[in-house]
Amino acid sequence: MANTPRKLALLAGAMALGAGSVAWAADAPKPAAPAAAAPAAPPVELISGASARMLAETCAGCHGTDGVSVGPASPTIAATYPEYFVEVMQAFRDGKAYSTIMGRIAKGYSDEELKLMAGYFADKPFKAADQTFDEKLAAKGAKLHDKFCEKCHSDGGKVLKAEADEKAKAKGKGDDDDEGGGEEYHLLAGQWTPYLHYAISDFREDRREMPKKMKSKLDDLIAKEGDKGLEALFAFYASQQ
Ligand code: HEC
Ligand code: HEC
Repeated sequence: MANTPRKLALLAGAMALGAGSVAWAADAPKPAAPAAAAPAAPPVELISGASARMLAETCAGCHGTDGVSVGPASPTIAATYPEYFVEVMQAFRDGKAYSTIMGRIAKGYSDEELKLMAGYFADKPFKAADQTFDEKLAAKGAKLHDKFCEKCHSDGGKVLKAEADEKAKAKGKGDDDDEGGGEEYHLLAGQWTPYLHYAISDFREDRREMPKKMKSKLDDLIAKEGDKGLEALFAFYASQQ
């Protein structure tokens, strides 16, 4: 998808803002009492709510409605931690994070727009990918996960909001620059298996920098279990539905 048509699409969306905010108000979760009463929300909120959704709609083709991806190569981004969302989008945009597609897409957005979208997706409920998996492999994967991955990707690889909050708070105090860190923002449990495959390949083939300690665990896993070990881990993540 080239940049120009996307910008045009956004522009068309912006011109339909009036209609957009009506639609947004119509399915807003908490309708204020009777319609006759003046809207309780300040108008600014209304406009930014509508435009956040408009921005987010351009992502639905790949990341699904409200960020729950139905295409196995695109990750689910619903409930993504907002700080991480902005950071990774900026990194895609600035060419600092490897991507096949997102680099081009992210270039179309200002920091302000990224923050709007981050808030929008953060509020959307996460739903695990609806995918099949082999139960025996998944049981084996659960053990391998505990042994090799759980230390960082805790609770079976879920994003844990409390931990992410803590981490975000600790940031800025300057203790985040050691290698690794940030794993609590990364979703493994319920993520699409093909996406996880790509992510691991990006690490193993040096397109993406792997935290040193994760590399040693992963090397250890592959040495002991071969690629079958990875298949088992992916089955375990897929099994968390
Ligand atoms: C054409 C398909 C496509 C579209 C459209 C798209 N994405 Fe993506 N997105 C991907 C793929 C594929 C990845 C994995 C990185 C890569 O290879 O580009 C990704 C990765 C991401 C990630 C990183 C997730 C993580 O856990 O690290 C975020 C955040 C994201 N996209 C947000 C968006 C937003 C916001 C939009 C709309 C403005 C959007 N994407 C539009 C395909 C798409
Ligand atoms: C020492 C801590 C640590 C260990 C152990 C670890 N990881 Fe990670 N993992 C991380 C960090 C940090 C990131 C984020 C790296 C980045 O920002 O690119 C990550 C990212 C990932 C991602 C990418 C997710 C995405 O959405 O792009 C996958 C997949 C992953 N790890 C799988 C594993 C598996 C499987 C194991 C066990 C074999 C494992 N990790 C062990 C710290 C760890």
